[in-house]
Amino acid sequence: MTPRPTLIDCDPGTDDAIALWLALASPELDVRLVTAVGGNVGLAHTLRNARAVVGLAGSAVPVVAGADRALTAPYVDAAHVHGDNGLGGLILPDGPAAMPGVAADAMRAVLREAAPRSVTVIGLGPATNLGLVFATEPALAGRVAEIVLMTGAVGEGNVTPSAEFNAWNDPEALAIVLGCGAPVALATLDVTNQALCTGAEIAALRAAGQGACAAAAARIWEGVKPSRRSGGRGHEQHDACAVAWAVAPGLFVGTPVFVEVDCGPGLGRGRLSVDRWGRRGQAANATLLERLDAPRFFTLLTARLAALP
Ligand code: BDR
Ligand code: CA
Repeated sequence: MTPRPTLIDCDPGTDDAIALWLALASPELDVRLVTAVGGNVGLAHTLRNARAVVGLAGSAVPVVAGADRALTAPYVDAAHVHGDNGLGGLILPDGPAAMPGVAADAMRAVLREAAPRSVTVIGLGPATNLGLVFATEPALAGRVAEIVLMTGAVGEGNVTPSAEFNAWNDPEALAIVLGCGAPVALATLDVTNQALCTGAEIAALRAAGQGACAAAAARIWEGVKPSRRSGGRGHEQHDACAVAWAVAPGLFVGTPVFVEVDCGPGLGRGRLSVDRWGRRGQAANATLLERLDAPRFFTLLTARLAALP
C-alpha cells in the first residue's frame, strides 16, 4: 500500500484531536501538512492544540496557522462543548513550533508540487482556509484526489435548527469548496451522530492502549459532556468520521448527490440543500456519507489510537 499524500485542516477541538491522532496513526495516509483554523475556540488555542496533538504522536508533520475569522464575519465558538482551551481543559505538553507562514499558502505549495488527482484534503473545521486555497488558485483542484469534509447537516443542525457548526460558521467558504470541481465526500451530522462514544468505548480504549496518546484521548472522551441528541448516552466523534472515510471507506455507505449550502442571512444560513434526484438539473458534486458501521469504526479507531506512542 502506498500512503496517500494528505492535508488536514482542523480546529482542535476535542473531536479534531481524536481525528488527527487517527490520521497520524494510519498507514493509508501520508499526512504532509496540518493547518489550524479558528472555530471551536480561537486560533491561538486551535494552533497550540494542533501542535500538541502532533507532538504527542511523535510526528514531525508541519503545523501552520490559518484564519481566525470567516470570510464575511467573526466565528462563533463552541467553547461550551470543547472547553475554554478546546481540549476540555486537558493541558497537553507543548508541541513543535508552528511553521512560519499562512495555511492557505502552505496548502497551495503542497498541492502545486503534487501529481494530478493525488492529494486527499481533509477539512474538520470551518472551511475558510480551504475556501481561500481554491478561490485564489482554482486550478489546484486538479491536484486533489478527494476533499473530505466534516460539515453540514441534511436533517437537524447542531448550532441552529437548520445548520451544523462548521457549515454555519463559514458557508461562503464552504460554497467555494463544494464548487471547486474536485470530488468531495461529506460526513454530515446525519452520519457522524452514528459514531456515538459511550462509556463502553472509553473503557475499551483504556484497556487497549497504554501510550500517552491513548491516555490523552480517553481523558478527552471522559471530559466531554454527553449530548442531548443522544439522550445523554454519549457524545459523537464527528471529525474522526471524515478521517475514517479516507482510511477505510468500506465502513460507510455513501450516495452521490448534488449539494449546495445556503449562504443567505436567514434561518436557513449554513443549511445544506441535498439533491438526490436531479431536481436541480445538476450532476452530482459530492458523495454523501449516510450510514456508518459504528462497531467497526470504533474497533479501527481504538486500535489506531492504541498503536500511538
Ligand atoms: C463539528 O463542529 C465542531 O464543534 C466539531 O469539532 C466538529 O468539527 C461538529 O458539528
Ligand atoms: Ca472540528
